[in-house]
Amino acid sequence: MTAIHPSILSADFANLADELARIPSADAVHVDVMDNHFVPNLTIGLPVVESIRKVTALPLDIHLMISDADRWAPQYAQAGAESVTFHVEAAAKPAQVARDLRSHGAKSAMAVKPGTALEPHLGLLAELDMLLIMTVEPGFGGQSFMDQMLPKIAAARKASDDLGGRIAVQVDGGINADTILRAAEAGADTFVAGSAVYAADDPDAAISDLRSLIK
Ligand code: DX5
Ligand code: ZN
Repeated sequence: MTAIHPSILSADFANLADELARIPSADAVHVDVMDNHFVPNLTIGLPVVESIRKVTALPLDIHLMISDADRWAPQYAQAGAESVTFHVEAAAKPAQVARDLRSHGAKSAMAVKPGTALEPHLGLLAELDMLLIMTVEPGFGGQSFMDQMLPKIAAARKASDDLGGRIAVQVDGGINADTILRAAEAGADTFVAGSAVYAADDPDAAISDLRSLIK
């Protein structure tokens, strides 16, 4: 099963309800939370996520690019997120964060930046429902897909398959009509796309186009 998660980072933040209504065929909405500390950019936090929860029926896929994930991540689960992704680089006790997320009813997901090796963290897989392999440096939309991450995507796929395929493998950054097949062939099954969806005249058609490329 593959899934397309449009990122609202490239949407109009003054009209989020309307922007969400433009992507009815999305499998989930990817929400990028940045704190200008873990990454050099600032977006939105809990109050906006709580408001988004009220105006869309789509599942929320929260991507936390913030320091002190231990403190904040569970609050996003409580806000009604379907899944919450924390960066392993930003968590003091990642296994505990993952358990906390699940105890609040969310799927738990761990992200790794391009420069972070996956292998040292594979011991956490039992606590996780998704791995996010960043295919750009986190912080901004519209960057180019890093082909050097393809082996890491394949390693994540293998780690998931070794556990029966239960764990989704998400990619985020530079996913578009030119790159999605490469990521899929490497083993990704869940695709975040920001600019490729929201820069299109018809975002929902852009989702269908991406889907058709990996069928
Ligand atoms: C970047 C964010 C991404 C971003 C992707 O740090 O995590 O979710 O929205 O944007 P595109 O798809 O334009 O690379
Ligand atoms: Zn993201």
